[in-house]
Amino acid sequence: MDRDAAYLASVLGIGFCEPMLLPEAGLSASESTGSFESDSMTKQKSESAIPEKLAERFAARYGGEARVFCAPGRVNLIGEHTDYNDGLVLPAAIDSYIWIAVGLREDEVLEVCSENLQQEAQISLNERNPRAKKKWSDYVQGVAVMLHAAGIHLRGANLLIHSGLPSGAGLSSSAALEVSSALALLAISGQSLEPLEIAKLCRRAENDFVGTRCGIMDQFAACLGRAGHALLLDCRSLEYRALPLPPNLTMVICNTMVKHEHAGGGYNTRRAECEEGVRLLQRKLPGIKALRDVSLPELEAHQRDLPDSVYRRCRHVVTENTRVLSTVTALRDGDLTALGKNLAASHRSLRDDFEVSCHELDVMVELALRSDGVLGARMTGGGFGGCTINLVHTERVNAFCESVSTGYQQATGKIPDIYVSKAGAGAAEIVQR
Ligand code: GLA
Repeated sequence: MDRDAAYLASVLGIGFCEPMLLPEAGLSASESTGSFESDSMTKQKSESAIPEKLAERFAARYGGEARVFCAPGRVNLIGEHTDYNDGLVLPAAIDSYIWIAVGLREDEVLEVCSENLQQEAQISLNERNPRAKKKWSDYVQGVAVMLHAAGIHLRGANLLIHSGLPSGAGLSSSAALEVSSALALLAISGQSLEPLEIAKLCRRAENDFVGTRCGIMDQFAACLGRAGHALLLDCRSLEYRALPLPPNLTMVICNTMVKHEHAGGGYNTRRAECEEGVRLLQRKLPGIKALRDVSLPELEAHQRDLPDSVYRRCRHVVTENTRVLSTVTALRDGDLTALGKNLAASHRSLRDDFEVSCHELDVMVELALRSDGVLGARMTGGGFGGCTINLVHTERVNAFCESVSTGYQQATGKIPDIYVSKAGAGAAEIVQR
């Protein structure tokens, strides 16, 4: 056990990796928390009817009965850009999902149809040397390719896809599409895999087929989310533990409506800068394998060996790992002030050192921190747009949403979507009752 895992074991007072419940089938989709009645909340409430209606539309389009699967999006409470540096993350699955209705076909083809985009694509399971086509269906094809590479024989299938997650908003719609596709393709082919294996396979699909060099956090949260809990994950050992969220706190997710695009963009550049930092630091610290292994005093001692931007990228990752540990302690002790300070410090570090924030995210966080009832606010996900995560006293959620929404419109001219979410369960088959 390395020093962080030992520290985690000691702060939690127990062994680090306690077995977690597997996601339950027959999930009751999407009750909302709080009473803020925005359009998006009304939308969430109507989501519980989605699986049945999706199966009906599947029957009308393809004929026959469908099985329906869903996988959630996620927010990350803290631990940003640490996963691909072997570090610590603290995400939670949210109660917004991608649903897939799936049924067998007679040929060796996957026909995938996105209801939201009103687009379909055909994927041949016999294609030699398949390549990404820079389309949304790459996520499904990437999963099929990785299942095949894992020795799993897939059968042809029709997949009708409905998304309740905004794309490009930093809520991991791509991981939700990968994981729901994996469940659907495995089940229809009479196969199964453990949730953690599905998460690893979906990450490979995104890294090696789609071309985003992401870490494992999003696929992990989509597979192993647990209602009412955040997930503390050690991205090196893949040990994890579910931590209960305080019952009087509500997660409010504010969408700046600025879309990011990860594949090939600034995200991969940041990862390369971290790797460059490790490569340069290894000359002085030969024992390190990743930024996870570097302490702040060690990094500071070698500041002159690194270009300034690389030094600041490394400083973000090193200090963010410490903030995850401190947040775990704050959650355990019910220290909401410390929790809020860690979130605010994380945002500043992402803005100034890692440089993945943007004007709109900074405005949204500033507005949140000036609102009543907020305990902490920061950008969440890869950045360059997307959402903020705000931890808000449950009885103040209405006022918080109104004040941030109004202020954001005045400051930017954009109308934000605001989602009030519970920490939800991971991917599952929906059992039609
Ligand atoms: C994206 C990636 C994750 C993670 C976050 C930043 O969501 O998919 O693996 O790196 O960005 O924390």
